[in-house]
Amino acid sequence: MIRSEDPARLGRELRGRYSAADLGVLTPGELRRFAPHGNGDPRADITLAWELLYRLEPELYDRLVSAERLHPGVLGWLPRHADTIVEVGAGAGRLTLELIGRGREVVAIEPAMPLRQILARKLGAADHGDRARVVPGFFDALPVASDSADLVVACSALTPAPGHGGEAGLSEMERVCRPGGRVAIVWPNNLGWLAAHGYEYVCFAGPMAAEFASPQEAVELARIFYPGAAEQVRRRGQRRVPYEVLGINPPRDVAFKLAGP
Ligand SMILES: C[S@@+](CC[C@H](N)C(=O)[O-])C[C@H]1O[C@@H](n2cnc3c(N)ncnc32)[C@H](O)[C@@H]1O
Repeated sequence: MIRSEDPARLGRELRGRYSAADLGVLTPGELRRFAPHGNGDPRADITLAWELLYRLEPELYDRLVSAERLHPGVLGWLPRHADTIVEVGAGAGRLTLELIGRGREVVAIEPAMPLRQILARKLGAADHGDRARVVPGFFDALPVASDSADLVVACSALTPAPGHGGEAGLSEMERVCRPGGRVAIVWPNNLGWLAAHGYEYVCFAGPMAAEFASPQEAVELARIFYPGAAEQVRRRGQRRVPYEVLGINPPRDVAFKLAGP
């Protein structure tokens, strides 16, 4: 999970959930990207802890993102009709499920096998789900032809770090985008870096809250993912929790670049 705020405040519980002994779940390609120096420690590296979550407890992760829905303005801003859409780091499909009715073909690229399985299951149950293909892959080597997609999009996945995209990932997304198309980074985490690469920015206003399945679910997930807010979430006793309480920026913005004709 990519968060824009002080990482020290977030995910402390998650960091303690796994240890270096769990790194065996990563494939060689994943280890090379997520623990490049060969001595990765999820207790010290929160990003690595998130990668282990995706593989060891994918359903727990899916419960979290099911609560963190995208702002309707973001969904309205994305093209309604496209020939080919490529999504990178599709995860359990928070955005993919919104895209399948919009493209003749949707290619959902996701490295974590357990998340691909959840996404394939959801697509199987969805209208138009047969338009989507779920494939393994990484930002820095997208398994898609150049100039092939009208929309190339990533949601809460791309960062400037090489293992999570970086310069190579951004140029791969632009390679895949056909002239006249757009590259969109939804819920971006590093606006300065994207602006320096010519990306514009749009942000949608209005109050936003995470919508957990129940007040109990809100407390349980806050204790793991938002430990600094857990006590307040418990006292509120509500399943809807404003992002101000959780202490993160809401999923309400997009950085984008239009590919010239
Ligand atoms: C926070 S999750 C977001 C998932 C989904 N886009 C969503 O919004 O729910 C980040 C996703 O990026 C994927 N990811 C991490 N590193 C990646 C890489 N180098 N290339 C492609 N995807 C990557 C993870 O496996 C995970 O599914």
